[in-house]
Amino acid sequence: MLVTQQPVFRRFWYPVIPLQKLSEGPQPFELLGEPLVLWLDGEGKAAAVRDRCCHRTAKLSLGKVDNGRICCPYHGWEFSAKGECVKVPQLQPDCTIPANYRVNAYRCKERYGYVWVCLEDPLIDIPEIEEADDLDYRLIQEFYEPWQCAGLRVMENELDLAHPTLVHTETFGSEDHLIPDELEISETDWGIRVFGKLGVVNPELQQKNLKMSEGVTFRTLSMDWLMPFTIKLKITYPNGLEHIVVNTMTPVSDRTSQMVQFCVRNDTEADTPAADVIAFDRAVTLEDKRILESTDYDVPLMPSQEEHMFTDRPGIMIRKKVAALLKQHHEVEQSRTLRKGSFNTPSELSISQYTSASVVKVAT
Ligand code: FES
Ligand code: FE
Repeated sequence: MLVTQQPVFRRFWYPVIPLQKLSEGPQPFELLGEPLVLWLDGEGKAAAVRDRCCHRTAKLSLGKVDNGRICCPYHGWEFSAKGECVKVPQLQPDCTIPANYRVNAYRCKERYGYVWVCLEDPLIDIPEIEEADDLDYRLIQEFYEPWQCAGLRVMENELDLAHPTLVHTETFGSEDHLIPDELEISETDWGIRVFGKLGVVNPELQQKNLKMSEGVTFRTLSMDWLMPFTIKLKITYPNGLEHIVVNTMTPVSDRTSQMVQFCVRNDTEADTPAADVIAFDRAVTLEDKRILESTDYDVPLMPSQEEHMFTDRPGIMIRKKVAALLKQHHEVEQSRTLRKGSFNTPSELSISQYTSASVVKVAT
């Protein structure tokens, strides 16, 4: 699937830039192949319009902000947050600016320290992370960087409890736990919820971060995939510490996603410095990035296009729900290659279809 060629993805909110970046001046961002410029309007609120002047197509992001308006660097035309051209410095006396002198403007909201943008009439609101508003928790900003892979691959990876042993060899993967001890999946309105338990290694930095001296422990995982490219991964440790990772892979283009990650924890800076939390999660994410950037960004929604095993069930459910979303909006999956087959019905997503019982056995 090529995300820029599926218009329905334009109807979701995505975090595109840290709010504080806008105090440095106008900032460019590409969302689903659409060039945007973001800045702070006269009221200090984030604004986003197409990053192409309607005069001679210069990039507005190379210009400056004046009185809350974005000024084109080429001939100085000025645009409001609504995309209207409100000033043409060279305008002749007795002339007015025609109403069609405008650029596309997009919906903007500020949440979790980011500016979120939705290109067209939103289907749902920004994901609700209730702990982020809870005073017993703190929010730590972690990562904001481009990854050369499809967001769907990252969504599946986060719910794939068979990869830590092989991928997270320097952080938490345990050779004794190739598969989860428990794995339960249920559908939600706009996503899926996965409950799992996984034995993990507890290295030195984590022992300090978690205040747990054991060399091994287990994670109780409550994971929500929120359509289309957000994961909320709530990890609870035996001592009651909750480490909630919120990761959105904002679609830049078909092959690039902007990785946006913050975490929410029920401890304090005095318990564990944010820098140590980030250091451990950095090592974990780099282990994932190395592998995910090697995968094909054109993710097929039809299971028949790749092979599977039992622990892939969350990822298969994700593809099924994305396929249903496209169908509901009368879209056909776009890809680089012509594909054969059709998406299986949920009843066909059985254990036996994706593995033999002798390969893995997981309680459900
Ligand atoms: Fe923008 Fe001329 S290209 S004012
Ligand atoms: Fe991982």
